[in-house]
Amino acid sequence: MSTHLTSKSAATTESGDGHTHTSSYLPLRSVMLNSGYSIPVIAYGTGTAQAWTDTSGPVATALKSGLVHLDTAWHYKNHKSTAEGIRRSGLAREQVFVTTKGGSFDDAPEEGDVRRWLEESLKDLGLDYVDLYLIHAEFHVESVVDSWKAMEQIQRDGLARSIGISNFSTKSLQSILDNCTIKPAVNQIEFHPYALPTYLPTLLPLCKEHDILIQSYAPLMSVVRHPGGPVDSTVDKVRTERGLGETAGQILLQWSQQITGGVVVTTTTKPERMAEQIKPFLSDSSLPPLSDQHLTEIDAAGAAGPYRHWGVNWPYFSGRMAWFMLTKRHQTQGEGGIDVAPEGASWRNKPETRHDLAIVASS
Ligand SMILES: NC(=O)c1ccc[n+]([C@@H]2O[C@H](COP(=O)([O-])OP(=O)(O)OC[C@H]3O[C@@H](n4cnc5c(N)ncnc54)[C@H](OP(=O)(O)O)[C@@H]3O)[C@@H](O)[C@H]2O)c1
Repeated sequence: MSTHLTSKSAATTESGDGHTHTSSYLPLRSVMLNSGYSIPVIAYGTGTAQAWTDTSGPVATALKSGLVHLDTAWHYKNHKSTAEGIRRSGLAREQVFVTTKGGSFDDAPEEGDVRRWLEESLKDLGLDYVDLYLIHAEFHVESVVDSWKAMEQIQRDGLARSIGISNFSTKSLQSILDNCTIKPAVNQIEFHPYALPTYLPTLLPLCKEHDILIQSYAPLMSVVRHPGGPVDSTVDKVRTERGLGETAGQILLQWSQQITGGVVVTTTTKPERMAEQIKPFLSDSSLPPLSDQHLTEIDAAGAAGPYRHWGVNWPYFSGRMAWFMLTKRHQTQGEGGIDVAPEGASWRNKPETRHDLAIVASS
């Protein structure tokens, strides 16, 4: 169907930027980045509920269960415990795909320095390179174009095998593309059925045109934070019709991966859910992909209203950062950039309990 990006097939071996390496992150399926490196199609996140916590136990359990792609960030302040989790897993460096993101709420945007954030991250992770390094959000840096030039140098220097962006608006991505030597390999964005309509007009086509892979974060949004909406009943119908005993979470993860042809970034602290999350993405998975019909039905349920959970109307964006975002970067509803929840998103906005806000504050 027209909204779906082209699926990429699993890679076996390849070389990128002069490196020769194995591309297999078994037991997971992988797809190819425009940098020439392959990337497992599911990542285990150490953010949101796990940010600012000791992640060593969950990370070790996730890695041992086969979730060999980690998504972390300078801002999560848990690189040291993530490193401890990798050590405890017993896996070799090349068996684990490590993504981290640069961006700090401790620094004003004009002090934002992608190189410094990465050097600090590598030190805490105990690594000499990461597989993928992203700018966490455009509002962390003063100049998107200058910061991207620093990202390119980071890749040339071998500190990151691939580089990319997260939470960027179409406009800022376009300004990088107009000025870059190396294109972003990845755009990590909030992606779930309710968010799909936000990206359809321009962001997804632009990423597709430049072979920029989408990483979907918060793919379980409809069941985790906004239950009771139209996506739930459609996902239940799909589960029943498939008759494979899948959970709603498994259907949603497959939907995001198939719509984008990219990577899903999710998480759990529960070993039984790790097994659940990994199952559709095993290279020898017995679960067939969702049919076009089922994908389309979930798309339609999500289109009950374009809505993204993270926005500048959250209390978390306060003070200097809010001023910067509102005056300098985010006067418009950005596609992919942090934006404002639309009028009428009432049922979706409701569960803003203290607990939920704490989660948002740590995302
Ligand atoms: N780039 C960015 O700005 C950005 C922003 C947000 C997140 N991220 C990344 O994306 C990762 C995932 O994001 P997220 O945690 O916000 O969203 P998510 O993957 O949609 O939700 C994961 C949360 O849902 C719970 N959960 C898992 N499976 C479930 C199920 N079947 N039913 C109900 N609850 C379930 C988990 O808690 P339990 O432990 O109870 O299972 C976990 O806390 C983060 O860890 C982070 O790495 C990036």
